[in-house]
This record gives sequence, C-alpha cells and structure tokens, in this order.
Amino acid sequence: MKNIAVIGAGTMGNGIAHTFAQSGFNVQLIDISEASLQRGMNTIEKNLDRMVAKEKISDADKTATLGNITTFTDTIEGVKNADLVVEAATENIDLKLKIFKQLSEVCNEKTILATNTSSISITQIAAVTSRPDKVIGMHFMNPVPIMKLVEIIRGYNTSDEVTSTIMELSKTLGKVPTEVNDYPGFVANRILMPMINESIETLYNGVAGVEEIDTVMKLGMAHPMGPLQLADFIGLDVCLSILNVMYDGFKNPKYAPCPLLVNMVMAGKLGIKSGEGFYDYAESRKAETVASQFLK
Ligand SMILES: NC(=O)c1ccc[n+]([C@@H]2O[C@H](COP(=O)([O-])OP(=O)(O)OC[C@H]3O[C@@H](n4cnc5c(N)ncnc54)[C@H](O)[C@@H]3O)[C@@H](O)[C@H]2O)c1
Repeated sequence: MKNIAVIGAGTMGNGIAHTFAQSGFNVQLIDISEASLQRGMNTIEKNLDRMVAKEKISDADKTATLGNITTFTDTIEGVKNADLVVEAATENIDLKLKIFKQLSEVCNEKTILATNTSSISITQIAAVTSRPDKVIGMHFMNPVPIMKLVEIIRGYNTSDEVTSTIMELSKTLGKVPTEVNDYPGFVANRILMPMINESIETLYNGVAGVEEIDTVMKLGMAHPMGPLQLADFIGLDVCLSILNVMYDGFKNPKYAPCPLLVNMVMAGKLGIKSGEGFYDYAESRKAETVASQFLK
C-alpha cells in the first residue's frame, strides 16, 4: 500500500493524514470545504512544529511529511489512485452511505474502504457498496498522531484478508490495532459515552459543578482529563450522535442522551471546535493551550 485517500480534513481527518504522511505514505486529503482543508493543513503544520521543537522529528521530517500530502475538493479526483480510502467525514449516517456508494462506483475494485466512524454500523455502510468484504472500521483516537489505539471493526462480511491487511498497516503507523465486532458504539464508545453522559447528568442534576466533576474523575480515578473536558475535546455534537446511535441500536434507555447535552448542541456549544462547551475557549490562544496539553 502506498496511496491513502483521507476523506474529511476536520479534527480526525487531518490527524489521520498527518500520521500516514509521517510514515511515508502518499496522502490525498479530501474535503468538500476549501476552508476545512486550509485549517486541516495549518493544524498539521502546527503539530509538526511542536514535534520539531520537542526534538521528536527533524525539520527535514516535517518538510517530507508535508510534501507527502496533496489536497483535493473533488472526491473522484482524490481517490483515483488510492489503495486505501479512510473516510473521516462528519458523523452522519446518510452522508456516510452516500460517500460509500460513490466510492464503490469510482474506486479501483481492489481498493479497501475504511471508515473512522465512532459508532455507525460498518455492516450497514458496507451494504451500500458492491464490495462488503473490503469495507472495515478503522477507528483512530483523538489526537491521532499521539494516541496508540486503532479499534479495528469487522463488519459482518469483512474478509479475513482485509482485516489482517489493515491490522498490519496500523502497526506500520506505530499504532496498536485491536480487533472488535460490529455492534453499536463498538467497544471504545460503548464504555466511554455512558460515562460522559452520566457526568453531564450529574451536572444537570446539580450534584456538582463542571470543575468539581472533572476534578473527582482526574484525581480520584487517575483519568488524564475529566469527562466533561474530554467531551469538549471530542465535540459535543459527536458525543450526541454516538449516544443516539447506541440508543437506537440497543433500544435501551440507558443510552438516552442527557437533555443538557441536546440543548448545548442545539445552541451551537460544541466544545473546543466552536470555542465553547463545558469550558470557555473563546480566546483562540486559550483553546490552543488546552489542546496542546494533550499533544505532549
Ligand atoms: N472527534 C473525535 O474525537 C472523534 C474520534 C474518533 C472518531 N471520530 C469520527 O471521525 C469522523 C470525523 O469526525 P471529526 O470530529 O473529525 O468531524 P469534524 O466535524 O471535525 O470534521 C468533519 C469534516 O468532514 C467534512 N465533510 C463533510 N462532508 C464531506 C464530504 N461529503 N466529503 C468530504 N468531506 C466532507 C467537513 O467539511 C469537515 O471538515 C466522524 O465519523 C466521527 O464520529 C471522531
């Protein structure tokens, strides 16, 4: 594998592009929004600068990594020579089905189609393609260049060969892949999201304030960051969609999103990316400081 197309240049897409490019792959980074592509490339450059400053990579590595990435606003053009497509567009089922239907039509028949979805069924996504054996979940964690785990999700029809190819590829990125089956929320979010939702319920019920809840979990449970700050970091809209997918998928009220989370998303308070969530990141300098704590 040499050519990797990444669809979506947002929080996850730019991290995925960065990680493949730093490992020497040719990356075609695709987004419908020129502004998102620009922001994504700026983020990659800033993160590489931070690595150079910490002497983790050289200036030449930075230049080579940036040189391995080409940007596209046209999906068909961007995926033309791809051996693997990693889709990291907005978490919306209709959008993902539309993207995969198109990919199935325009990509080479050997191309493996992976999705970074946090919760949507891989089997359902695969069903709109003519190659369900070559569709797989490749769930990177945020921030991608730092976090070791890749949750590899086998859809109902994903082949053994494709699974082992993607497991091996993840290792070449310096990651630790873990294979799981395709049920709502997979493993990571099935366990994480109820904890985040319960923290929001705790706030909503007036049991404690934002900082108090996060302090209990940071200092009491040795979590590197509190669940409310983590929700801001993930994006409150992303948390809400994942909870809704689990709520619908299991028909179990324990996954029902807290009304406070629903209200905050409707009000446009999405966390770090919108400048405000459970914490205020209004000054861009402050938002960057918060993000950089996790990019040590
Ligand atoms: N945020 C996280 O912490 C996190 C962690 C793991 C997985 N994920 C998953 O990764 C995916 C992306 O999430 P994100 O947080 O990066 O979202 P984001 O909102 O930061 O970025 C999404 C990007 O997709 C682009 N996009 C929308 N439609 C497109 C299309 N048709 N073609 C190309 N680009 C398109 C948007 O312009 C935007 O730049 C989602 O499936 C999400 O569930 C997110």
